[in-house]
Amino acid sequence: MWYQTAVFYELYIRAYKDSNGDGRGDFRGAIEKLDHIQSLGVNAIWILPHYPSPLQDDGYDISDYYGVHPDYGSLDDFQTFLDAAHQRGLKVVIDIVLNHTSDQHPWFQAARRDKKSPYRDYYVWSDTGAEYPDARIIFLDTEPANWTYDELAGQYYWHRFYASQPDLNYDNPQVHAEMFRIMRFWLDLGVDGFRADAVPYLYEREGTNCENLPETHRFLQKVRRMMDVEYPDRVLIAEANQWPEDVLPYFGTPAAPEFHVCFHFPIMPRLFMALKKGDKTPIVDILNRTPPLPPGAQWMTFLRNHDELTLEMVTEEEREWMWQQYTPDPRMRLNLGIRRRLASLLDNDKRKWFLLHALFLSLPGAPIIYYGDEIGMGDNIQLPDRYGCRTPMQWDDGRNAGFSHAAETYLPVNADYQQINVAEQEADPDSYLNLLRFLLRTRQSEAALRQGDLDWVETGDTAVLAYTRRWQGRWVLCLYNLSGETRTLPGDFINASQPLHDLLHPGQTWQDNVRVCSNEPREWELAPFAAFWLAKEKSAD
Ligand code: NOJ
Repeated sequence: MWYQTAVFYELYIRAYKDSNGDGRGDFRGAIEKLDHIQSLGVNAIWILPHYPSPLQDDGYDISDYYGVHPDYGSLDDFQTFLDAAHQRGLKVVIDIVLNHTSDQHPWFQAARRDKKSPYRDYYVWSDTGAEYPDARIIFLDTEPANWTYDELAGQYYWHRFYASQPDLNYDNPQVHAEMFRIMRFWLDLGVDGFRADAVPYLYEREGTNCENLPETHRFLQKVRRMMDVEYPDRVLIAEANQWPEDVLPYFGTPAAPEFHVCFHFPIMPRLFMALKKGDKTPIVDILNRTPPLPPGAQWMTFLRNHDELTLEMVTEEEREWMWQQYTPDPRMRLNLGIRRRLASLLDNDKRKWFLLHALFLSLPGAPIIYYGDEIGMGDNIQLPDRYGCRTPMQWDDGRNAGFSHAAETYLPVNADYQQINVAEQEADPDSYLNLLRFLLRTRQSEAALRQGDLDWVETGDTAVLAYTRRWQGRWVLCLYNLSGETRTLPGDFINASQPLHDLLHPGQTWQDNVRVCSNEPREWELAPFAAFWLAKEKSAD
């Protein structure tokens, strides 16, 4: 299926391009920039929530599921954007927030005002706020509890995120019906699928941690059945920030499938851990712990996204270590994570950036790239919450980085925009932008990298990671020096009589790029942070 081998791009409409000079990005602006997205070589776009919202959680608090936020334009603009993306062969996946609404949603407004309203039962209420004590608090830095007392309602309501995001009551079949109506509405407009927000939390049950409950899975199976019957070829992507074995049930079974794609959360912090330690163990361990997928399913891999770099799926010790290493300023921490952008996390070191991308783009899964990371955009830790990583896209060195003509933009443009912008990087073949295009082109031209099986290759050095991806007789040997030091590999690691082409250095072979030590026995010398994708010449297959 298309999504199994696709590369995705995470698009934040507010940040991308302002077409009407109000200081906020919109769909018309994003249409102007579709050529840029297409030029990267991606296949699909995920757009962050575009619905009307009071923006207490940047749109993850929806007040109308059938509309478009007025800042972003109209439903017509949305449709024009969708059609324009489709004309370029780009699929478009939208966010769907199933778990909660905004407290400004008319359902909640009706529910809190009247116990007898049919909407009362759309939410989860309590007289005491004492139920479900085993459910953890997710927004630890701001929320004291998952229950909040509402004066108007005279009761507590349940919420897993901000208090302005009351959870819907999935024990009420009406809520299912509403969600099905909403999903059909957008599918009928032609969207290619949904990234479903916060799926583990749909149901609550006493005596559990209220995550991954069987009832939740049954609802999700119903959603998938509807999609399979009415909208085949669309995709359902799960945001379930869990261990691999707990995510597996979200793919369902061949008899009762759920999601086509699930984010692989635990691999992400381990890529950063491995790079900082110069040790492949965290990557090898988590991939060994990742169960095989049912047919037709895929992982979605990522380095960064619009949230903090989450450290929920590491041990406490590892979390402390990651904070020590990656948050020299305590303001860089948020909840159980790190609120920094990719290039800053990598000390703006292009060697690390290239290595990490080569690695991430050669792992099993459908990769997704966060807007701005294609040019190594920076962040702004002065801004609260996760906004420091959601600043305007940097197009050129003109006013507001070419994002907007307005006097003031929704968030300030990063100070580095005169050096770091798309226009500047277009001209430089070694820019982040052009390197990413090259990596994506190379990946796209190698079926083994897109869908091959992964087999570890022993290197005898914990700093040197190697594996093959194999697909229908074709293989690519992926080899990375994760450390900032020169490392050596035994001379017989690669048979020198066999010319292996280095896809990361076109026109060159492995032998051209790796120094052979003159001492005996011969050894191959790998430069700090070196990356290789080695393959036999295609015609030799
Ligand atoms: C996950 C989203 O990625 C995040 O931005 C949001 O705050 C929560 N879900 C709540 O919807």
